[in-house]
Amino acid sequence: MIFDHVAGGLSELDAQIVASIPPGGNWRHLPETIDSARVRQIRQSASQGKGSRSTYYGRMTWDRPAYTISTYFSRPGNGCFIHPSAGRLITVREAARLQSFPDAYRFFGRGRSRFVQVGNAVPPLLGYQLGRVLKQGTMVDLFCGAGGLSLGLEWAGFHSIAAVDNDATAVRTFIENRGPQTPALVADLSDPTELQACVSEIKLRAAKHGGGIALVAGGPPCQGFSTAGDCRLDDPRNQLVFSFVRAVSELEPMQVLMENVASLTFRGRRSILDELQRAFHRIGYTTSIVIAHAEGYGVPQLRRRLFLQAVKGGLPVWPAPQRRLLVPTMAKYQPQATAGSGCPPFSVHDAISDLPSEAAPSPDEAVSYAHTAQSDYQRWSRGIVGIDTLCPPTSIIEEPMTRPLFGKP
Ligand SMILES: C[S@@+](CC[C@H](N)C(=O)[O-])C[C@H]1O[C@@H](n2cnc3c(N)ncnc32)[C@H](O)[C@@H]1O
Repeated sequence: MIFDHVAGGLSELDAQIVASIPPGGNWRHLPETIDSARVRQIRQSASQGKGSRSTYYGRMTWDRPAYTISTYFSRPGNGCFIHPSAGRLITVREAARLQSFPDAYRFFGRGRSRFVQVGNAVPPLLGYQLGRVLKQGTMVDLFCGAGGLSLGLEWAGFHSIAAVDNDATAVRTFIENRGPQTPALVADLSDPTELQACVSEIKLRAAKHGGGIALVAGGPPCQGFSTAGDCRLDDPRNQLVFSFVRAVSELEPMQVLMENVASLTFRGRRSILDELQRAFHRIGYTTSIVIAHAEGYGVPQLRRRLFLQAVKGGLPVWPAPQRRLLVPTMAKYQPQATAGSGCPPFSVHDAISDLPSEAAPSPDEAVSYAHTAQSDYQRWSRGIVGIDTLCPPTSIIEEPMTRPLFGKP
């Protein structure tokens, strides 16, 4: 049985739009007769050569990975979120599958909350792959959200001693999936007093586990980095990454893994990234950055994210991708320039073809699978086979791969 099989609602016009788009198509396939303000806006910005995202009003295709699952998959006009064959958007459960959450992982919250939690998450399989080459031990997750990154790191062998987020609903999801003893806290990490209180609490918990913390992980929000134009060090929306560094400087973990948007490497935003690396260097860490392509690590999705690793007394290590990258951009930021073996990435079909084409009326209504599991990915999602079936042993890249590299010993 599965839960969370609910999709965003469609207006009559949106339903008409969705019906006109073929698999693999998008707004460009719409007849001129479709009169929607959103489509007009997209057409106009495309004709002016700006912001014409080719995935808008996109319909997935069965034989490729999905495009990035953002927090907007409840709407057709903000990405490629139309089901490959049904006349609807993908459901929360389908998005969770494409993000590599197992079916047993439930989401909580009303309205758009479950959509946001799933779209915000680091795919757990990616967290697992990045985590299994690190030195395992105790772990803290700052800006933990629904717990995608934590879940992957837990699979890799880390033991969670604290997780913090200011969204009480996301924290509920985090706790409900792990049990009432789960050490998750609701706090605003932009507030120095709350941050300090969390640090003190985490130090107490670490002391109970023998002292040192092996890993501080987390994905501080990135609104200030995703928007067009130059990014300023003093933009208040960018301060959360420095709150993250402040917490690290107090907690002194052996390793740090920070996730953010790939556009941090772009001109105009690069100064923030350089300052971040310098900040870690000042407190004694060697840093390295990769842009991980999720499809290379077994996630059925073309999602690329920046990861910064900081290590005390050693060199950062990254796992090589195991699957072919379909869009191998930003090669100099990848753990292996000619990344991936010959193995193709998982497709949308591998990920969700066993789920019912009809969505459920409510997220809490359990619905049956439409088919028996049709792929290793589906067998793994249902808990029938273990993670080793999907992710064979990986080769480890023991050198920081990117420049500039601060703090090389
Ligand atoms: C990119 S999401 C993290 C997703 C998470 N790593 C995962 O894998 O599921 C960023 C999170 O930061 C949280 N957040 C935003 N501002 C915050 C603040 N001031 N203090 C604490 N958490 C905050 C959001 O609620 C959101 O869950």
